[in-house]
Amino acid sequence: MPAMPDVKRVTEQKILNALRGHTNTHIPFWLMRQAGRYLPEYRELRAHKGGFLDMLYDPESAAEVTLQPIRRFGMDGAILFSDILVIPQALGQNLTFEKGEGPRLSPIRDQADIDRLKSVNDIDQTLSPIYQTLRNVGEKLEGEKFSHVTPLGFAGSPWTVACYMIEGGGSRDFETARAMVLKRGSFFERLLEKLIPATAHYLSRQIEAGVQAIQLFDSWSGVLDEGLFDTCVIQPTQALVRLIKSKHPDIPIIGFPRGAGLYAANYATKTGIQALSIDYTYPAERARDDIQSQGICIQGNLDPARLLAGGDALKNEALRILDVLSSGPFIFNLGHGVIKETPPEHVAELTRIIRNYTP
Ligand code: CP3
Repeated sequence: MPAMPDVKRVTEQKILNALRGHTNTHIPFWLMRQAGRYLPEYRELRAHKGGFLDMLYDPESAAEVTLQPIRRFGMDGAILFSDILVIPQALGQNLTFEKGEGPRLSPIRDQADIDRLKSVNDIDQTLSPIYQTLRNVGEKLEGEKFSHVTPLGFAGSPWTVACYMIEGGGSRDFETARAMVLKRGSFFERLLEKLIPATAHYLSRQIEAGVQAIQLFDSWSGVLDEGLFDTCVIQPTQALVRLIKSKHPDIPIIGFPRGAGLYAANYATKTGIQALSIDYTYPAERARDDIQSQGICIQGNLDPARLLAGGDALKNEALRILDVLSSGPFIFNLGHGVIKETPPEHVAELTRIIRNYTP
């Protein structure tokens, strides 16, 4: 006989209801980059702990930072405090964050660089503190009676992580990585053969440590033409989702193909995800009519600049998004991460708008 579902969790956790394709009477929300520099309590802890990486590999600090926005605003999801670039680091690539500059990695440009990367069996040497963070988060959520909060795991999608690995850092539109795929397809395939199993393993361990849904961040899916979008985003994501689901068939997966535009609907139906996180350039009505209508949950999509601006710019658009999307499976979020200059009072205002809203 199949196990009885945990009814209490099902009804309490609105994010999970939405991810299972149900419509909530009160709309759940969390915000990408809800933990971070816009919060004074984050800046204070960071000043004590040293750098960003020191903090994310310290399970006590990382769990604290994960919980900070929940204590202040009471979001429905607690996203793990970590970074998408821990996978390249665990595979042996050197990673640093220079102040004000963003990430720096030793670039991967040829087969010898790929051969030097560690095997999937060795990545937990680096990543195990992150699994401990998640166990701490689970304990804190229970201890602090946040039973409505869904612990969320995440990883970068293969394309976006490959972009940073190849380029060696950020870039305006990752032309080196794109040219590499076009000229040396087999190099890219070899890199994916490392990246996909490593990411699936990392996410499986997150699930075993307590996360109840995961998000795949594809921040750079918007720099690709239609052919490359299929090769670099749809196919690798599909392979990754299959691998995760072969071990954890019931875990809901949220995909965030930022900037995918006209390819987003294809992404939503072909990759096997349960929810599509839309960026702020994607029209909410199109998401409702083309994607949500097929039973796929939509997440999004307030422009983070509106959260920074506050006032009517924030309120009117938040209400419009709620009106358009709340009659189907929906999780309110931003269309990209919280901007670090955002006043915390604006996040409190957004919280009030969402909590007072009834569809
Ligand atoms: O959402 C959350 O609150 C969870 C934590 C989280 C971070 N990074 C923390 C972070 C998540 C989900 C990420 C994902 C991530 N990391 C992405 C995908 C999402 C996106 O923004 O498109 C990408 C591309 C990265 C890589 C990365 N990490 C960059 C480019 C930077 C530097 C840019 C910046 O904002 O400084 C980071 C650093 C980073 N990741 C910080 C935080 C809180 C800032 C670290 C600090 O200085 O304290």
